[in-house]
Amino acid sequence: MKHGETLDVTLKNGLAEHTSIHWHGIRGPNAMDGVPYLTQAPVQPGATFRYRFTPPDAGTFFFHPHCNTAEQLGRGLVGALIVEDDAAFDDDVVMILKDWRVGGDGAFQPFYTAAGASKAGTFGEFRTVNGAANPMIATRPHARVRLRLINADASRIAEIGLDGAKAEVIAIDGNPVAPFALDTWRLGPGMRLDLAVRTASAPMHLLDYFAADPVTLATLDPNGKAGAAKDASLAVPALSDFADARKITLELGAGVEANALPRLAPIVLPDGRTIDLADTLCLAQGTFWTLDGKSWPDRDHKKLPPPMYEFKRGERVAIEIENTTSRAHPIHIHGHTMTVLAANLLKRPVHRADTVLVMPNERVTVAFTADNPGNWMIHCHIIEHQESGMMGWFRVS
Ligand code: C2O
Ligand code: CU
Repeated sequence: MKHGETLDVTLKNGLAEHTSIHWHGIRGPNAMDGVPYLTQAPVQPGATFRYRFTPPDAGTFFFHPHCNTAEQLGRGLVGALIVEDDAAFDDDVVMILKDWRVGGDGAFQPFYTAAGASKAGTFGEFRTVNGAANPMIATRPHARVRLRLINADASRIAEIGLDGAKAEVIAIDGNPVAPFALDTWRLGPGMRLDLAVRTASAPMHLLDYFAADPVTLATLDPNGKAGAAKDASLAVPALSDFADARKITLELGAGVEANALPRLAPIVLPDGRTIDLADTLCLAQGTFWTLDGKSWPDRDHKKLPPPMYEFKRGERVAIEIENTTSRAHPIHIHGHTMTVLAANLLKRPVHRADTVLVMPNERVTVAFTADNPGNWMIHCHIIEHQESGMMGWFRVS
């Protein structure tokens, strides 16, 4: 869709269980955010829900369910949402990275395993881009091409590199950045990366350097009509330094905690209805991960936990995220765009993002203006981590 257009999508639930659609990275109205029990009632089998909003930002986004996500996303309920700006590239290629949990017989394997959830996540054995293993993707020779990478996998962190051409990073999570040369970029689940590439006539390979033996994810094959190869570029907005922001720390932890929850007033959904039963479908049996020492309550708890933060609308907040665990966590917030200000391990420029990778023992400082009223999730985007406790929410009012 073009920037400025309104998206009008009716979800019709053909599953045997309830679902919803979350529009990842879109700073939309809370009622359209698609989180069951927090922003809307779950869409029951056979029921419909109309999502209608105008994305405020252009960029590379995606969408997926937000309950029993390991399985629903694992089976393929995920798609790209591209909000076009007016940069004139010769070609625009969307590449959705997603692995599949299938065995040798072609049948799906369990999407959530305690062994995976308690470690780096359960990996799919069959790796794909746009649903195919190492697909050959046609593009134009002697052209300036935009690649939009979306890591839609539930677990796998890829270390993205491009072999055969020089690439520049031009946007992170859909947000334009001052272009810089791509060496490799660690792309966690939920994260996106826009690259600008000047093609010649030789094939180029998208590689994952995370393992000792790099894996070829896709091959770009320039053929056909040459492009104009003009210097298309994106407008990069100025970044704020957030020196005046309210400072908060957030500890990413591991551990199984029993949560003694206070009795809470029921959540009022944006449509005015109230709901107070957390659902058993959305959460796994055990908890392994915590935010500030607390796990999202497991199945035995029938209430949503209290909000982690309450912000006044317009308040500027800086969160120092400290990962005390031995695993990396891509931390995602809803309804807002963070500025990633500083990190002490992984090198990256100051940039805007909705998902930030926090490495083991790393401290990362992010900041944002809490300007979107409503109830918003904050969670790890390794879906099994999310479903085993590393999830919370905050309120902006
Ligand atoms: Cu892409 Cu809360 O999710
Ligand atoms: Cu995690």
